[in-house]
Amino acid sequence: MIFETHAHYDDKAFDEDREELIKSLKEKNICNVINVSAELDNIKKTVELTKKYDFFYGAAGVHPSEVYELKGNDIEKIEAALLEPKMIAVGEIGLDYYWDKEPEKQAIQRDWFGRQIELAKRLNKPIIVHSRDAANDTMKVMEEHKAFNVHGVIHCYSYSKEIAQEFVKRGYYIGVGGVVTFKNARKLVETVEAIPLEKILIETDCPYMAPEPYRGKRNYSGYLEYVVDKIAEIKGISGKEVEEITRENARTLFRV
Ligand code: NI
Repeated sequence: MIFETHAHYDDKAFDEDREELIKSLKEKNICNVINVSAELDNIKKTVELTKKYDFFYGAAGVHPSEVYELKGNDIEKIEAALLEPKMIAVGEIGLDYYWDKEPEKQAIQRDWFGRQIELAKRLNKPIIVHSRDAANDTMKVMEEHKAFNVHGVIHCYSYSKEIAQEFVKRGYYIGVGGVVTFKNARKLVETVEAIPLEKILIETDCPYMAPEPYRGKRNYSGYLEYVVDKIAEIKGISGKEVEEITRENARTLFRV
């Protein structure tokens, strides 16, 4: 079975059929799901999902594009959620310079990335990193805050294989999702070739990033078989092996 390491079932895209869809996941070969928070106000929905579904875990954190309205003591709200029993990681946190190009905004992102790394270190939990068009600064903030002491994953990985190898060398995992099935996915395919399967995690980032043949549609964990098959093809092994090894990777990193 597949361990889904990055989903957003709290998203309004699932409001109409969330319960049915989640209940169908076991038949779709999904053993566990990590629901990842992106906004401060949605963290409680993630906690609720972990209480409602035995196979769900949660991550609490604020996405870089959502940090601008945060106040200093909001870190305590994130911390409180992380004290709940099935909340296993800080995320998603990081830098996104694709959407926000103003230097002032990027400075705020770095500040909140750092603060949330410090929280992860204090609680001894891994981090789930979102990083887009900001490879150098991501590495820099992580070095500055000693993020390589707690482990984590670079989710929805979008950089070169060389940068992936740098993260892997520092104990990090690489999150691979629907993009690997796209026709223009050359960089990600090369990354999957270059790094050991023991450092790869499977994820949807749903409702976004649906794999082929559903590209552009609403994504959900039931489509992960396409991601597994593609990785199996790249690595020249069976889908079953991909499922088993990446499932163990998730259990090791998130200690579940
Ligand atoms: Ni995400």
